[in-house]
Amino acid sequence: MKELTFRPLAFLNAVLVAGASLMTTSSEVNAKEKNVLELPLGLKAFKVPPDNPLTNAKIELGKQLYFDKRLSSDNTVSCASCHDPDKGWSNDAAFATGVDGQMGGRSAPTIINSAYFPLQFWDGRAKGLEGQALGPIANPIEMNLPIDKAVEKLNAIAGYKKQFRKVFKTDVTADGIAKAIASFERTVLSGNAPYDQFKAGDESALSPSAKRGMDLFFNKAKCSACHKGHSFTDLAFHNLGVGYDKDNPDIGRFQVTKLEGDKGSFKTPPLRDIHTSAPYMHDGSLKSLKEVVNFYNKGGVKNAQLDEEMKPLKLTEQEVEDLVVFMKEGLKSARYPYVEPPELP
Ligand code: HEC
Ligand code: HEC
Repeated sequence: MKELTFRPLAFLNAVLVAGASLMTTSSEVNAKEKNVLELPLGLKAFKVPPDNPLTNAKIELGKQLYFDKRLSSDNTVSCASCHDPDKGWSNDAAFATGVDGQMGGRSAPTIINSAYFPLQFWDGRAKGLEGQALGPIANPIEMNLPIDKAVEKLNAIAGYKKQFRKVFKTDVTADGIAKAIASFERTVLSGNAPYDQFKAGDESALSPSAKRGMDLFFNKAKCSACHKGHSFTDLAFHNLGVGYDKDNPDIGRFQVTKLEGDKGSFKTPPLRDIHTSAPYMHDGSLKSLKEVVNFYNKGGVKNAQLDEEMKPLKLTEQEVEDLVVFMKEGLKSARYPYVEPPELP
């Protein structure tokens, strides 16, 4: 991943000019604040909660917290352990390993472009990035540190106390931890891929195979029925039959809504820079993009709640390959959102 490295500070300055607060749309920013929000080509402006405006100081603080293993009970696990910039902001295992080597039953989703998702987790049980951020710290099989303990621990570190005073005008609080981490996550953006350059008029940006793959993606293979919009997700939940086990099913979205039709449904994941975050699916059961396309080609796995879009696709071997090339090359950002682990206080 070396060739993808770039200096994170330059990136932050590109997103936010001079510590300006980020508004809901770039035109609003231009009109009201006379500041430019530069998003990578192809991405749209996103909303930031009104009580958590983005500032450079808050993003820097959030970055430190994100990489800090002291937010776990035994100082061995940070957010980056499972959502690692070197591994597509995910990890390279089917399941994530927390403190004491404990494993959960779902794979770690990427953080890339999560700024756009109103509901977090495979089943959408958390609202927004602020609503998600404290969960893994306290989760016994992830970081296993009760939030009041985490607050106490950070308050004893002078460098954190000072930054919280500066950013939030308070000592370290749970609310501030969530807001700072969420702000950092919002800067992990992927755009400006050959697909975007092609759409912007550069015919040569996509190889012939990637172009054929793009056509399949939006037409014959109907991937865009669910992977739509600039981040390639409809932000909705679908049952593809992934990992379907009639005796012991992961009920997915049903857990939140209790609607029969939501049994075994999971959130449509985004697809930019998807080549960096294998293995795939909520249970990490598919090891490569080729396995994913073969899975769709067969029409998923039959079960009572299988999504109506899931039908055998009758793709030829060449077409399977073209779809893979479209995802691998066509959705690969010109500048992968790499971030070096920062120095910690
Ligand atoms: C032990 C591994 C592990 C650690 C540590 C961990 N996560 Fe996660 N994370 C996961 C898994 C697994 C999921 C999916 C769980 C699910 O959907 O039920 C997840 C889901 C998420 C999501 C939702 C993404 C989406 O697209 O829905 C976000 C955001 C996130 N984690 C951020 C964080 C932050 C911030 C931290 C640190 C405070 C953190 N994670 C620590 C494993 C981990
Ligand atoms: C009916 C909606 C739907 C359609 C159609 C669809 N997808 Fe998906 N896609 C999803 C959902 C939902 C998941 C997660 C499923 C799970 O883990 O249970 C997913 C997962 C994926 C993943 C894995 C992403 C990750 O981070 O693990 C890839 C890659 C993918 N889809 C590509 C495609 C391609 C290529 C097509 C067309 C051949 C396609 N999808 C068609 C909804 C859809």
